[in-house]
Amino acid sequence: MSEGDTLAAVDPAALDGIDPNRIPVHVGCVMDGNGRWATKRGLPRNEGHRAGEEALFDVVEGALALGIPWLTVYAFSTENWRRPPDEVRFLLNVISDSVLMRRRQELHERGVRIRIAGRRDWRVPKRVLRRMDDACELTKDNRRMTFTIAFNYGGRAEIVDAVRALVRERVAPNKIDERAIRRHLYWPDMPDLDLVVRTSGEYRISNFLLWELAYSELIFTDTLWPDFRRDNLYAAVREYQRRDRRFGALGEQDGDQDGERD
Ligand code: IPE
Ligand code: IPE
Ligand code: MG
Repeated sequence: MSEGDTLAAVDPAALDGIDPNRIPVHVGCVMDGNGRWATKRGLPRNEGHRAGEEALFDVVEGALALGIPWLTVYAFSTENWRRPPDEVRFLLNVISDSVLMRRRQELHERGVRIRIAGRRDWRVPKRVLRRMDDACELTKDNRRMTFTIAFNYGGRAEIVDAVRALVRERVAPNKIDERAIRRHLYWPDMPDLDLVVRTSGEYRISNFLLWELAYSELIFTDTLWPDFRRDNLYAAVREYQRRDRRFGALGEQDGDQDGERD
């Protein structure tokens, strides 16, 4: 039995107004608005990134309380290298110092499996790569929740990398289908996203998990990421449960789908 299995299950108080049978399996967060949060307070942008850490761990707690089994957060995109070197360095360090070092034991004890999704290219410092490997190794047998950090991640890059792998394996064109591509994504066992929340009032995806969000419900909120807390996550899940997911078929309002309609 892994350590996570022994921990308390879902927190009933968190479930107020939430149907426990329709908890989203995979939730993604585009953690945006750190810079604006700091600027509004007359602080340097990096203070916003620092403040984002509290939001992140409160959301992890909230996801655990709801029993969400997969949580993926967008921490650093392949496009974020375009920022000034000082800010890039700070962003690399904030994730590496918090999730991968200071908080990893706590996450481990809560039964969280830490994973990284993204390119391991030369721009990511060796020290950060080492910490990623250590945190993933430490927590790899945990099953209560898989917490994936999209780091040096780009949705297009992920698809390009999958196609490259298929070509390298000389897979015949007629064998290339959606399943074959999925098998070559960074984490083939990661389910599609049910719900994506983006903070800070921006209505875009910014290259987050393009393949995996094909049928996600999208929720945009004006709250800046450092102000986001588990209650905001609960509100997003309530909103998600009000949506009618159709996947191209007919919705719940359209009558039964057992062929009894004429
Ligand atoms: C999100 O906050 C953090 C990352 C993109 C890494 P931002 O730094 O984008 O903050 P804003 O959007 O400039 O306010
Ligand atoms: C998206 O935020 C990336 C992350 C949250 C890591 P950005 O702030 O980089 O996105 P854009 O530039 O506003 O699209
Ligand atoms: Mg931003």
